[in-house]
Amino acid sequence: MNEKINLRSQRKNEHVRHALDQPSQTAMSDFENIRFVHQSIPSVDMEDIDLSTRIGPFEVSRPLYINAMTGGSEWTREINRKLAEVAQATGLPMAVGSMHAALKHPELSNSFTIVRDRHPDGIVFANVGADVSLEGAKRAVEMLRADALQIHINAPQELIMPEGDRNFKSWRANIENIVEHAGVPVIVKEVGFGMSSETLQILKDIGVKHADVSGRGGTNFASIENIRREKADMAYMSDWGLSTPISLLEAQPFLEDMDILASGGIKTPLDAMKCLALGAKAIGMSRLMLEQVEHHGIEAAIEHVEQFHHQMCKISIMINAQNIEEISSRPIVLSPEIISWQRQRSLDK
Ligand SMILES: Cc1cc2nc3c(=O)[nH]c(=O)nc-3n(C[C@H](O)[C@H](O)[C@H](O)COP(=O)(O)O)c2cc1C
Repeated sequence: MNEKINLRSQRKNEHVRHALDQPSQTAMSDFENIRFVHQSIPSVDMEDIDLSTRIGPFEVSRPLYINAMTGGSEWTREINRKLAEVAQATGLPMAVGSMHAALKHPELSNSFTIVRDRHPDGIVFANVGADVSLEGAKRAVEMLRADALQIHINAPQELIMPEGDRNFKSWRANIENIVEHAGVPVIVKEVGFGMSSETLQILKDIGVKHADVSGRGGTNFASIENIRREKADMAYMSDWGLSTPISLLEAQPFLEDMDILASGGIKTPLDAMKCLALGAKAIGMSRLMLEQVEHHGIEAAIEHVEQFHHQMCKISIMINAQNIEEISSRPIVLSPEIISWQRQRSLDK
């Protein structure tokens, strides 16, 4: 293996290792700052609950997907294989991690294409960064016969990463060009720093129809990249970004025109239900799924997904809602801290 390939593979492995080592950061996720209103006399039975949803043109029976993580090394090929088997068994859409490694070094492509091999008829998302060329984006889609393309936007990660990018001016025009010519739906996603209404306005202006706000509160790339710095001197940035609930509040004006997807710090079915209540069309999980396949195995991960969905249905009854649309119109109560954010930012739910 040449040195460049080795460095890329090594970086991917470090990301996975640090992500698995990270403690859960419930306190930063803001899910505890949002509460449902319990309803004592539900008018629905368990068999009435239907959480099916649409992600762009894709109809899915469960509002969940496995979000972007890996590929680019031997170890992450194996992780992708396991995740794809979980996706296949549960019918969840699945995204692969950034495919730049495979675009530059085709010998790494099987660490991504394994996902299509194991999830042959499922919904698969390719994944590239915002600096990719249109030709590269199209090759990534072709490589996986992907149904959609995720473009990740990760400026804080790049800036804290010792070897990261320092040029961002071209992102907007580049994303616009890819959205126009990719030939598949494009989902622009954050990587755990959340999205502001200003960001969403830019995405809307350039024709983006699907955005995954991927907020703060779960996998923390400010911390992961800080550990990778020689002096680990940017630890003070560890709470940078908008939590997933705050991002969803920022997204309220865009719910009509865009599919807003939620990820970042989703740990429980209750967190996922809160995202639906705030208007998300579906919920992406990365770290939780990584932990499941790496620490508990494929069978346990499949069971976890089944239980996760089942428990979402139970919570739906507790708020007397039968489907996604009803969940999004059920009352929620926000903590003073969240209301203060809402007021200062002139946002409404
Ligand atoms: C090990 C690891 C690697 C990741 N690599 C990528 C990536 O290559 N591309 C991307 O868009 N997001 C990547 N992410 C970010 C996730 O897709 C997601 O936005 C973020 O982890 C927040 O979700 P979580 O709290 O459920 O982990 C990665 C996450 C993890 C844990």
